[in-house]
Amino acid sequence: MNTLRLIQIAHDDPAATRAELIAGLSAPRAALSPKYLYDALGSRLFAAITELAEYYPTRTEAAIFRDHMAEMAAELGPVATLVDLGAGNCEKAARLFKVFAVRRYVAVDISADYLRESLDKLQYEHPAMQMLGVGLDFSQTLNLPAEVGAGPRTLFYPGSSIGNFTPDEALTFLRQVHAACQGGNLLIGVDLVKPDAVLVPAYDDALGVTAAFNRNLLLHLNRLIDTDFDIADWRHIGLFNHAESRIEMHLEAVRDCFVRWPGGARHFNQGERIHSENSCKWRPEDFADLLRQAGFTDTRQWRDERDWFAVFAAFA
Ligand code: AVJ
Repeated sequence: MNTLRLIQIAHDDPAATRAELIAGLSAPRAALSPKYLYDALGSRLFAAITELAEYYPTRTEAAIFRDHMAEMAAELGPVATLVDLGAGNCEKAARLFKVFAVRRYVAVDISADYLRESLDKLQYEHPAMQMLGVGLDFSQTLNLPAEVGAGPRTLFYPGSSIGNFTPDEALTFLRQVHAACQGGNLLIGVDLVKPDAVLVPAYDDALGVTAAFNRNLLLHLNRLIDTDFDIADWRHIGLFNHAESRIEMHLEAVRDCFVRWPGGARHFNQGERIHSENSCKWRPEDFADLLRQAGFTDTRQWRDERDWFAVFAAFA
């Protein structure tokens, strides 16, 4: 019978967050980190996005896991420690526990508080497993605490969140993942290049849920750093940038406007944009190359029948 442990690794201090956000807003091409999309409402809006008919990634990835779980388990072997990066409600990892024979589960997310409820429930359902919740922002550096324990680990990074990184950033991140798995392996979900007619509606849906998700970033900023964004001045843009092979989300000023914050302000012309997210779409062979460049020696992949999404296993 195990009891749940939760640890929180220190966040950026509020002054650093404020400086980063103001620098982003003040840049000639304004840009903000997509991590600020996820306040309490933003997290719920993202959950709503995953239910939309247009948003294929979540259900396509789930189908790949459903159809190939046993084969994945055979490739990975028994999993001593499963480290779940961006665990959230821990649902995706929990589906693997049995087939992967997971002994120890480490859920990592930006705030240990977010993990408490879901992990408490999981620990109750799996009393023989050791569980640890780690509050850590790994978007810049992946520095897992010693409490995760020695020995090889399976790092689990589903959902295609790797797409938020540009290819250069993804390589830097995957090198850190390679080091962090300590001779173990990585299981990662990757969204693939596909026709615009499928990609664009997934990020600009008919109901406007993605628009709400994106525009809510400005309300979050109003609370975080006391800006005075008027939501009515901003519209959602979701486009596919072919040159960079990525979906981009922007917020576009529908009229000339001023945004003020304590100690500063900025004017936006009508049509000027704030870049709020990249979601890179990979070709399977390019992502396999990237994993090798990051130090992994061998890879395997599973895809859905339409080749819309891939799950890769990579071995240190
Ligand atoms: C959570 C980063 C995987 O890129 O598809 C969904 C976020 N943005 N709709 C994605 C998102 C707009 C999502 N990730």
